[in-house]
Amino acid sequence: MAQLIDGKAFAASLRNDIAEEVAKLHQQGITPGLAVILVGEDPASQVYVRNKGKQTIEVGMSSFVHKLPESTSQTDLLALINKLNNDNSVQGILVQIPLPDHIDADTVINAIDPRKDVDGFHPVNVGRFSTGGNGTIPCTPLGCLMLLKDQLGDLSGARALVLGRSNIVGKPMSTLLLNENCTVTTAHSRTKDLQEECRRADILIVAVGRPEMVKGSWIKPGATVIDVGINRIEQDSGKARLVGDVQFSSAAEVAGAITPVPGGVGPMTIACLLLNTLTAALRQND
Ligand code: GUN
Repeated sequence: MAQLIDGKAFAASLRNDIAEEVAKLHQQGITPGLAVILVGEDPASQVYVRNKGKQTIEVGMSSFVHKLPESTSQTDLLALINKLNNDNSVQGILVQIPLPDHIDADTVINAIDPRKDVDGFHPVNVGRFSTGGNGTIPCTPLGCLMLLKDQLGDLSGARALVLGRSNIVGKPMSTLLLNENCTVTTAHSRTKDLQEECRRADILIVAVGRPEMVKGSWIKPGATVIDVGINRIEQDSGKARLVGDVQFSSAAEVAGAITPVPGGVGPMTIACLLLNTLTAALRQND
């Protein structure tokens, strides 16, 4: 059976380290602030935003949550971002994705001051990080990388397959692994012989949003599997069950190590958001 990669415990320890650093900033009269903007009523986003606000306060930072109605105009959203860009009590700004259809996500992301872009979605940060500079690294890929390095140590030369090519996870994940000297393949819905590609990978990262798509038979024996998916499956009992993009029961029989869902990548994403906010605060107070 595969070893379990305990993201929940790793994230708790990371949050402890962050809280210690924040306490040192308090002594200098600095309290890092994170502003989170949620537009609309998406149920999953509401849960994420609530957890982000709660954990921000737990590490000693200020949390500013802006919940805006679905009908909010792009102009009003841009005005709020402009206000937060100029607010000295805010060092990090995050606009929860997805946004309603009448709002252009690229325009919104471009409006965030790159120094306050704790998601690492602004083109300036994407560019810096892709060229090996110190641009902010998106939270979910950063969390996956931390778990991988904790599990495997040096990743040099490993054959990595990233399944999914979103701007939030897949693309930055591939870039990060390339920076770690992996041999990286990015696979997606048009990839030919997908199962074969997966079976070649020493490291398999799955971020496609399809419940239990990757089966144990797709996995190379001994591989390290990072499951980014969080899918709610409604059950007959009326209770929802959370599953990943990997079929855990069959994968755990083949993999060397695997992240569970829940308790794997999920908690790492918020911990890395807090880390990015701390880093942004340190840079802005330099
Ligand atoms: N929606 C899903 N994941 C994320 C994330 O990491 N950041 C933001 N802003 N929205 C998301």
